[in-house]
Amino acid sequence: MRIDILTIFPEMFTGPFDHSIVKRAKDKGLADIYIHNIRDYALSKHRNVDDYGFGGDAGMVMMIQPIARCMEKLKSEREYDEIIFLTPDGVLLDQSLSNKLSLKGNLIMLCGHYKGIDERIREHFITLEVSIGDYVISGGELAAAVLADSLIRLIPGVLNDEMSALSDSFQDQLLSHPVYTRPAEYNGWKVPDVLLSGNDKEIRKWQSEKAIERTKARRPGLLDQ
Ligand code: ADE
Repeated sequence: MRIDILTIFPEMFTGPFDHSIVKRAKDKGLADIYIHNIRDYALSKHRNVDDYGFGGDAGMVMMIQPIARCMEKLKSEREYDEIIFLTPDGVLLDQSLSNKLSLKGNLIMLCGHYKGIDERIREHFITLEVSIGDYVISGGELAAAVLADSLIRLIPGVLNDEMSALSDSFQDQLLSHPVYTRPAEYNGWKVPDVLLSGNDKEIRKWQSEKAIERTKARRPGLLDQ
């Protein structure tokens, strides 16, 4: 998978993609992430990327030309499966959307700021608008990092069997069961006996019951889906 991220804050991506599973995916050649500074595509000497909105609203709007020029360049080099804009008014990200997008080859993710981006970008370039939740964060960068992480870990070969994404919360509309490690007793707090029993069938049954119990208690809506 190739992901091209368009941003005015490229430095925000130095951390999230340099560790753990996303780093593994990059090192194995299973995911390539390219960060593009929208400012590099600005027309003016001062590299402006925003301007006052028409209509007199307070707040700046991200201009069309720098984003369009960057998009045009990328699109002339390869076909993209989706051009995604991260925005609180997009479709809500969930595991099923991540599963679907993880099968794609080339994605662009556009990060917005200020009051938003010139609507013509959304009309003429964007194919999918995604929100990571019903709250507003300061820009699309953290949302793009969340989306990219959730896709990359699903690419076949990124996780080994032990880490399998199939047992993640949400993958079967259930939250995960509790997990424990050594010591079997700490401060008098004991690991459930069944997990020490060596009875594989009983352990799976317990895990499944706990997953359902936890889902009922915390996210009953998931069970209706
Ligand atoms: N930009 C600001 N808030 C956002 C959100 N909740 N999801 C995606 N992009 C955003």
